[in-house]
Amino acid sequence: MHIPVLKDEVIRLLDPKPNENFIDCTIGEGGHSLAILERTRPNGKVLGIDADPNCLEALKARIKGTEYEGRLILVHGNFANLREIVEKHNFKPISGVLFDLGLSSWHLEASGRGFSFLRNEPLDMRYDTSNPLTAEIIVNNWSLKDIEHILRVYGEERFARRIAKEIVKSRPIKTTIELVMAIERATPKWYHRRRIHPATKTFQALRIAVNHELENLERGLAQAIEVLESGGRIAVIAFHSLEDRTVKHFLRDKFKQGVIKILTKKPIRPSEKEIAENPRSRSARLRAAVKL
Ligand SMILES: C[S@@+](CC[C@H](N)C(=O)[O-])C[C@H]1O[C@@H](n2cnc3c(N)ncnc32)[C@H](O)[C@@H]1O
Repeated sequence: MHIPVLKDEVIRLLDPKPNENFIDCTIGEGGHSLAILERTRPNGKVLGIDADPNCLEALKARIKGTEYEGRLILVHGNFANLREIVEKHNFKPISGVLFDLGLSSWHLEASGRGFSFLRNEPLDMRYDTSNPLTAEIIVNNWSLKDIEHILRVYGEERFARRIAKEIVKSRPIKTTIELVMAIERATPKWYHRRRIHPATKTFQALRIAVNHELENLERGLAQAIEVLESGGRIAVIAFHSLEDRTVKHFLRDKFKQGVIKILTKKPIRPSEKEIAENPRSRSARLRAAVKL
């Protein structure tokens, strides 16, 4: 099961109170949302959005017959369309919005969609399986230049050109292991012996490109601030520097415009204890703000 990251810190910053409504833009397995619902009894609601219909089905089955059932509204959608989703469900007033970005443990370990370079699976990497773009399409059809570009920009991969060249040369590449082998052929031996697996950055880049993660994040953040009540809070957990930079710049701009007050001068990081218990939390950075 996915262990919610920085849960106590998220709750402290969002500060849910009885009967308030919250939006969880990335509900996943619902860890943060259930903690919010604990504090918003008896009538507070959570509008929980996820791009992945499988996550929503699993959560729906889990809460069936519990006291949460009537207070948790589950919506399949993309947080890039947050305003439209909120309007459609006539969900207001909104006291807080949470983004816990990226993928859940289920995606890595059980989805079978090729998110992990440690498993041999088809190259898919979509959260939303109705999205027409897959990692396989990128790897087998995009130009050398475009692949190099995403590896460099979304992966911050120093061997972007060498890896892109080897990918093009090795086509067709259908599975994660075939891709890992191409990456290993393209990179020097010392690069294989570091703490970070040599495929980490390529896989991150492909995932970001397949799911349009940075564009969606910018759109979602802007709409989150719009839908919030005055005094409402936004909390965002990012898992890599590109994401965190996007969040940091967005909050700084909104602060300069006099729209928000930032609650986290520096991003909040998980404690050593949390990292030991949940290694996936290692790279998390939490930022939060209150709408004025
Ligand atoms: C880190 S998990 C969330 C885990 C959740 N907070 C929990 O405690 O169980 C991120 C979730 O966001 C979803 N997701 C990613 N991008 C999305 C987007 N643009 N719109 C909606 N959901 C998205 C993924 O499918 C995934 O289930």
